[in-house]
Amino acid sequence: MRADPAGPAAVLVAPSVLSANFGTLADAVRQVEAMRGDWVHLDVMDGCFVPNITFGTKAVTDLRPVSRLPFDVHLMICRPESHVQSFCEAGADRLTVHLEATTHLDRVLTSIREMGKKPGVAVVPSTPAVALSEVLHLVDLVLVMTVNPGFGGQELIPRCLTKVAEVKRMREEAGLSFLIEVDGGINPSTAPRAAAAGAQVLVAGSAVFGAQSPSREVELLRKR
Ligand code: DX5
Ligand code: ZN
Repeated sequence: MRADPAGPAAVLVAPSVLSANFGTLADAVRQVEAMRGDWVHLDVMDGCFVPNITFGTKAVTDLRPVSRLPFDVHLMICRPESHVQSFCEAGADRLTVHLEATTHLDRVLTSIREMGKKPGVAVVPSTPAVALSEVLHLVDLVLVMTVNPGFGGQELIPRCLTKVAEVKRMREEAGLSFLIEVDGGINPSTAPRAAAAGAQVLVAGSAVFGAQSPSREVELLRKR
């Protein structure tokens, strides 16, 4: 097989501040810009959809003036329909809700779009790609979780990369153009496999914030 003369398509890197020190969260958000991250990934957890609790709309409002980068807000919360409006108003540019967290996914994704923001849908490792089929036309992004959500620092589940390839195939068949994002266990060794499967946006928390040089780590994640 000959190499693509244009080279592999570029990936975007979205550092997750979940692995940063929450006592100085604003500094971590500033740091994402300094390390040349593309988006700031903000993980909202409610202790209901996932066992962990992080922060809510007030943190997003207070962090918004700190960075010009897009805020990629990942809602790991039950009943997201009750909160999407406040996260949009707080300054989310992209708002991703879990398929497993609501019965009325079509309605909640449509409402994010109506508020002028980019809707995304996320799936946990046990949810098959086919479950996404009725909402793919409504989203700008599909987030394929590559770990069970709730905590940083876990190992990527290799089977989830097969799902990335399936979602990519479904996108081609439907003639759509949403982005495919992966989140969980992404580091310079797993990133090339995720990108080869079809991931275009790489979320990384512990790999970036645990690195001696976060900017070097972001560079390594981009390199394939
Ligand atoms: C996990 C979160 C992730 C988390 C990833 O549920 O959604 O965004 O920060 O952390 P790492 O990159 O350490 O696996
Ligand atoms: Zn996340």
